[in-house]
Amino acid sequence: MFITLEGIEGSGKTTQLRYLVEFFEERGNPCVTTREPGGTLIGNKIRSILLDPESKDMDPITELLLYMADRAQHIHSLVKPSLSEGKTVLCDRYFDATLVYQGFARGLGIDLLVQLHKILFNDLKPDLTILLDLPPGVGLARAWNQLNNGQRSGGESRFEEETLAFHAKVRAGYLELARLEPDRFRIIDAVQDEKHVRDTIREVLLFFLK
Ligand code: TMP
Repeated sequence: MFITLEGIEGSGKTTQLRYLVEFFEERGNPCVTTREPGGTLIGNKIRSILLDPESKDMDPITELLLYMADRAQHIHSLVKPSLSEGKTVLCDRYFDATLVYQGFARGLGIDLLVQLHKILFNDLKPDLTILLDLPPGVGLARAWNQLNNGQRSGGESRFEEETLAFHAKVRAGYLELARLEPDRFRIIDAVQDEKHVRDTIREVLLFFLK
């Protein structure tokens, strides 16, 4: 099973991913946790270029191709082999992030990205996508807090430095994707505190796994 977590900056994906691991481990279900960008050694190098605030002049096509390069390495060396071994793959961001950040917010459009995903990755889609939704002002304040208190590296702040309008587009993009694919997406209110969000996700998973 392939499960992804999505959401704007500061939505709490990384924390919730840890709770997801607990959920699956309690059930004796082997799982692999990973992320995009940066789920592989090569991907981590690509990640540092992508998130470096010094890369602020990056062309949107360059950005797209770097995310896709990271994904190619990730799918071929980690995601597919793990799924073939019957493991559950829990991934912090995936193709939906490309659709909303590069497609909606950067304005590259959805059609090109959907076509590329079909051609390059055989349209590999998650079975379930958990969308942690919250207003961009709240998310960005949380994200900057983490950067300022050292919980996250300042070398990864390129997207946090984007405008509120950019993040509002990202959020709207995610909600639109969820509307288009209601069977795959579950929207979770991520304004709630961490434990509340964890419990809501657990309920969603219990229902989904039935
Ligand atoms: P994160 O690991 O903290 O979520 O940061 C990853 C950043 O990369 C985040 O700002 C979203 C962005 N991103 C894209 O723009 N396109 C993509 O395809 C992916 C996977 C992430």
